[in-house]
Amino acid sequence: MEQLMRNFFLFLSKNKTLTNLAKKYGLRFGAARFVAGVDIDQASKKIKEINDDGFVVTVDHLGEFIDNEKEARESADECIHAIEVIAEKGLDSELSLKMTSMGLDISEKLVMDNMRRILDAGKKHNVMVTIDMEDYERSGKTLDIFKELRSEYENVGTVLQAYLYRTVEDIEDLNEYNPYLRLVKGAYKESPEVAYPDKKDVDENYKKIIKMNLLNGNYTAIATHDEAIIDYVKELEKEHNISRDQFEFQMLFGIRRDLQNKLLKEEYKMRVYVPYGDDWYGYNMRRLAERPANAMFVLKGVLK
Ligand code: FDA
Repeated sequence: MEQLMRNFFLFLSKNKTLTNLAKKYGLRFGAARFVAGVDIDQASKKIKEINDDGFVVTVDHLGEFIDNEKEARESADECIHAIEVIAEKGLDSELSLKMTSMGLDISEKLVMDNMRRILDAGKKHNVMVTIDMEDYERSGKTLDIFKELRSEYENVGTVLQAYLYRTVEDIEDLNEYNPYLRLVKGAYKESPEVAYPDKKDVDENYKKIIKMNLLNGNYTAIATHDEAIIDYVKELEKEHNISRDQFEFQMLFGIRRDLQNKLLKEEYKMRVYVPYGDDWYGYNMRRLAERPANAMFVLKGVLK
């Protein structure tokens, strides 16, 4: 049943008509639980509160699967605006973005133009930019773009997903770039030809890539709400004497605030991923897919 619900929400997450409708109607269907506002003004207030509580942030202007040049350029403009607001308001925040919102499905040249503009702004204001990882079909292209940008910029990082078979090789391949990597389990619906179908295999591979990247000496963001994985990282820290300057934990806005507080109390660096924008629909559906119990929460909201 859980798997069925998961597939259902992942199927809904890609529906273009619902995505467009959602943009018109503001944050609905429980989205306010996971999304910090529809614009950077609203989001920056939340970021300030989160910073004041002792957390660092990465802010994400929601947007994905853009299919025209004008919108891709506007999406890049919004990212630059977000960087300027971070600098102006003295917020402790990085920026996260998706290649399909920069025009990946249109042309690589467009993505590179947009990314260079954003990374120049990030460099000027000392803001790190992380490229989220989307579905498998786009992962190879995304990594090629990352490598090219990484050889030009210090302030760019990316994400690798533990559910993909290719990720162990990607960790090795990226090592020469001394990358800033955010490691996650993976949130898209993938075929068993490219991704582990069983959660327990994903978890094992997750541990493996975390260990590899830490022992390679690269900065590692462990982005999970899974306490068993977090405990594993703490064991690695002790066993291999890994400095706390070399890693941080990350969680999504609105999820496991109790665990976020616990890690902060234990003096770990804890970063909250804060999404904002009117294109909240696909993001929200993936959060429901991760935990169908959240759908009950949404249903209550709809019925209220
Ligand atoms: P898992 O799914 O096993 O959950 C462990 C526990 O966490 C659950 O038992 C529950 O308690 C809690 N939990 C997890 N999800 C929840 C939810 N939605 N609501 C309530 N509780 C929940 N993916 C991707 O493919 N590309 C990317 O670029 C990113 N980027 C990214 C950044 C950051 C900062 C985070 C934290 C995550 C991502 N992800 C991602 C999403 C990631 O791949 C994964 O889908 C989610 O983090 C859920 O997996 P967990 O590791 O938390 O474990």
